Amino acid sequence: MTKDEAIFELKKTFDINAIYAHKVFMLADQDKFLEDAQKIISEKPKPFVKWVGGKRQLLTQFRLMNLYPPEKFDPKTGRYFEPFVGGGAVFFDLLPEKAFLSDLNNDLVITYNVIKKEVEKLISTLKKHKTDKEYFLKIRAQNSNELTDLEIASRFIFLNRTCFNGMYRVNSKGGFNVPFGKYTNPLICDEQNLRKVSNALKEVEIKKQDYKEVLKKAKKGDFVYFDPPYYPVSKTSSFTSYTSEAFLEKEQTELRDTFSELSKRGCFVMLSNSDTPFINKIYSEIKGVRITKVQAGRAINSDASKRGKITEVLVTNY
Ligand SMILES: C[S@@+](CC[C@H](N)C(=O)[O-])C[C@H]1O[C@@H](n2cnc3c(N)ncnc32)[C@H](O)[C@@H]1O
Repeated sequence: MTKDEAIFELKKTFDINAIYAHKVFMLADQDKFLEDAQKIISEKPKPFVKWVGGKRQLLTQFRLMNLYPPEKFDPKTGRYFEPFVGGGAVFFDLLPEKAFLSDLNNDLVITYNVIKKEVEKLISTLKKHKTDKEYFLKIRAQNSNELTDLEIASRFIFLNRTCFNGMYRVNSKGGFNVPFGKYTNPLICDEQNLRKVSNALKEVEIKKQDYKEVLKKAKKGDFVYFDPPYYPVSKTSSFTSYTSEAFLEKEQTELRDTFSELSKRGCFVMLSNSDTPFINKIYSEIKGVRITKVQAGRAINSDASKRGKITEVLVTNY
């Protein structure tokens, strides 16, 4: 088997992307190739939080349509940027060598950095949490400003695992206000995965900042993936409260301009958003852009019967 054939086989058999398949190819023992590859892949880190809008279920579609990762992106020279990182599903899928992750959610960014730098301490504090409603309400009422980074990370993961649907929503004062999730046995401390995540983050820079800061660093040949708060499909479906900031026409248009600027620079740019006339219109105004519709089964409607398949768009400049 040639190297290209082996990578093709890995992609198909394990449903993985070309960049990660290349890495597995380099690491796997050639004598028991598939068996060894399977072992390596089973050790891969996963996102450590549930995040509304998580991209995991869409990645296979992106790959099969040859839209992800960009074929010409070279991970040896180009860097990966994810400026609305959230749960980081695409980062964990790609596991690039050089990555810059950022988000405006302060507690989320602190949690990434605590996992990166103090994972063993975090694991021992996570093991001390209880799972009853009274305890949940006590932890929820805490104010992040009065906690250490380690306490913020421990609280953040605890609330994510025990609140309703793993949602993140804050009130106008920034206080977390998602109700108790009533799970019988929530997994609060997935210690093996946390250690793998910590390892994967060792060389990664993770900052709290606005997505526009990406313009200060990204260069020709870098790959930038934008997964912003989506433009609402209807007036009532608005779900933009990951932080207390709104993300409507003005913000979406500024993001489009950032996309366009990076594109002119020679970056590979990929963006997800809702399949709405407004989003289709603003991106079709950029030259050389491809807008592809993808099927998304997103469970953000609290009424299960209304959680049908909806389409969203993947915008690429390649
Ligand atoms: C749709 S979610 C990202 C989902 C993520 N890709 C995943 O797989 O879980 C959008 C994220 O953008 C962040 N955000 C909102 N406004 C922002 C801004 N102006 N700059 C950077 N991040 C922002 C939110 O905190 C949220 O984590």
